Amino acid sequence: MFLALPFLLPGIFMSSMSANATAPADAIEQRVNTLLAEMTIEEKIGQMSQVNGGDSYIHDYLRDALRAGRVGSVLNEVDVNVVNELQRIAVEESRLGIPLIIGRDVIHGFKTVMPIPLGQAATWNPVIVSSGARVAAREAASVGVNWTFAPMIDISRDPRWGRIAESLGEDPYLASELGTAMVRGFQGDDLSAKDTIAACAKHFVGYGESESGRDYATTNIPENELRNVHLRPFHAAAKAGVMTMMTSFSDLDGVPATANEYLVNDILRGEWGFDGFVVSDWDSVRQLSIHGLTANDRESACEAAIAGVDMEMHGDAYLNHLAQLVDDGKVPLEAVDTAVANILRAKFRLGLFENPYTDPNDFPPFADADALETAREAALQSVVMLKNEHHVLPLSADQLSSIALIGPLADTPYEQLGTWIFDGDPRYSVTPLGAIETLVGDGVDVRYLKAMETSRSRDTSAFDEAEALAAETDATVLFLGEEAILSGEAHSRADISLPGAQAELVGRIRASGKPVIVVILAGRPLTLTNIVDEVDAILFAWHPGSMGGPAIADLLFGIESPSGKLPVTFPRMVGQIPIYYYQKNTGKPPSPETIAHIDDIDAKAPQLSLGMTSFHLDAGYTPLFAFGHGLSYAYFNYENLTTSTSEMALDGSITISVDVTNTSGITADEVVQLYVRDLVGNVTRPLRELKGFRRLTLAPGERVTVDFELTADDLAFYGRKMQRMTEPGEFHAWVGSSSEAGLMAEFRIVGER
Ligand code: BGC
Repeated sequence: MFLALPFLLPGIFMSSMSANATAPADAIEQRVNTLLAEMTIEEKIGQMSQVNGGDSYIHDYLRDALRAGRVGSVLNEVDVNVVNELQRIAVEESRLGIPLIIGRDVIHGFKTVMPIPLGQAATWNPVIVSSGARVAAREAASVGVNWTFAPMIDISRDPRWGRIAESLGEDPYLASELGTAMVRGFQGDDLSAKDTIAACAKHFVGYGESESGRDYATTNIPENELRNVHLRPFHAAAKAGVMTMMTSFSDLDGVPATANEYLVNDILRGEWGFDGFVVSDWDSVRQLSIHGLTANDRESACEAAIAGVDMEMHGDAYLNHLAQLVDDGKVPLEAVDTAVANILRAKFRLGLFENPYTDPNDFPPFADADALETAREAALQSVVMLKNEHHVLPLSADQLSSIALIGPLADTPYEQLGTWIFDGDPRYSVTPLGAIETLVGDGVDVRYLKAMETSRSRDTSAFDEAEALAAETDATVLFLGEEAILSGEAHSRADISLPGAQAELVGRIRASGKPVIVVILAGRPLTLTNIVDEVDAILFAWHPGSMGGPAIADLLFGIESPSGKLPVTFPRMVGQIPIYYYQKNTGKPPSPETIAHIDDIDAKAPQLSLGMTSFHLDAGYTPLFAFGHGLSYAYFNYENLTTSTSEMALDGSITISVDVTNTSGITADEVVQLYVRDLVGNVTRPLRELKGFRRLTLAPGERVTVDFELTADDLAFYGRKMQRMTEPGEFHAWVGSSSEAGLMAEFRIVGER
């Protein structure tokens, strides 16, 4: 039943993805095969088993298991002495001396924490994203970790889902570009170097579509959508040489990803030729029976092994049942051999057989100047200015004698780090309060009032004081949002407005008569509809990491100009979800002319009077803030949008160019974005699709021509029969500063398919 492509002999795909290996790929394959030939079935299954460590102590059962070759990987141990001892037992006291691969969730930093991945995505800057991963890899490698469970590249279109914080947003192109940048950052050019670690693209696949944003919930994704949207970043990661992938907890169209042979064996290995290894998610093999797919652990092990899951993360279904399953002819030995070869290949590429040990003295200290500067730069570029009425920002330190900083998140070293920071050290955090005090110096009286114990607090007893403070001082900045614990795994929310009494606090500051400037720290887009008209400026800072404070201070005071752009659409209200920019047109598209607000509808209005289009009576059809949106203190003028040709051949290319001028008096960054629409398709195509972007730094008055080259392949998509195709026909292209860019050009693709 599984004879097609799944269990190819090790080495068949060795050439394409071995860019990171220092040793030639065929030499590695030879070593893999030699070692495999010596292994017993128990030792093979041992390699396929990952055990949780993390107690800074090696239990006797673990020592015994290591000696017996029953462990291939340990996760969550970060005490370098313990890690070295684990490796020593595996290498010196087991029969074959196979080193361990040591895994850890190093998601957006190790000790030094970068912005949450969703914030990093707001930089639209592969260079800074890659640098952040480099720092994380270096710090993690210094304690013996050689494998991270990142990047998380699940397409995330539902801000209720807590794990959107870990994602790179809603767009497959942006997630592909930034996900591969992270892979390059972790893995470097040489996976066997001391300071590089294996990356893991997760969660394969579709996890972001969990129904109603409830974590772990069912997903149903039609194959065309799967291929045109959700698989794309994973394919890009595979092409970039990501060493491992993790299956998702979720159930896709009735088959949990961890048992999904079509996804893992057919697509990932068969179609894409992925030659790294696939790990399950935490206990997700045994959870197959909780899903109701299998009756017991034995059946779960059988399903996962046949699907092509090479390693079981924390669970003992493989350990307890795989040997018997092979004996009984339920799982072919070739399946086990392929899995073990995939794992050994990774260990060879990591250079673990040459040197399994870690000497922390080979590494710079944690949070060194380079790490902190990378974190500061990433935070700076991640902050999105959503609104800036009457140029209330930037503030001028010279013109202020006092400033009030009010709110639950102005001085919370831990919370600003965000979710998934197992090792993140809040002692390296510089908070907005600390950074602003440093920046303005003694000349400005900085008055701080937390006003609420947490973002969720409903106690308003400090609000009188807050209002009075705002009235007394020259400027007020509110630090609002949600703490780290409100996003991340299993931390979904149904109401994504500002929690607690924060909106009321905004109202009280407004009542002081002073401009209201809000900085929001959060792990997801929030519905800000109830405060957006009450405030003058909003800086959306995500959870900005260790150096969030200095970045925010520099932006508030105009030392730097905001340049982040939204990697995800901000809805007006939860009922609009999913709302993302690459929606289809539908047969009855909405338009501004036909929309009435629910309050304006006449009594007994006839059924057809509102135009019968696709919108919500109470929310319209537009988001609160569009994908790609983000304001600057500078002004950028876009003009002269041209195409190199009006007719592009199917085997040709087209260059789309635009002139961008900084018409302001300050140097600032702008992210220039290219969107395309394929007007008629074999399947209906999105209204706009991101096809290119470029982050530029422009001096006052500077003008540059930005060129985007597109080939027919860049315009390809999966059609009705799941064939990848580029079709001749009409295209529209827009270039501008958000997905709402108005400057448009047209071109055609000509030729016969
Ligand atoms: C998460 C993974 C993570 C793993 C190990 C799971 O609960 O879904 O993303 O890598 O735990 O900590």
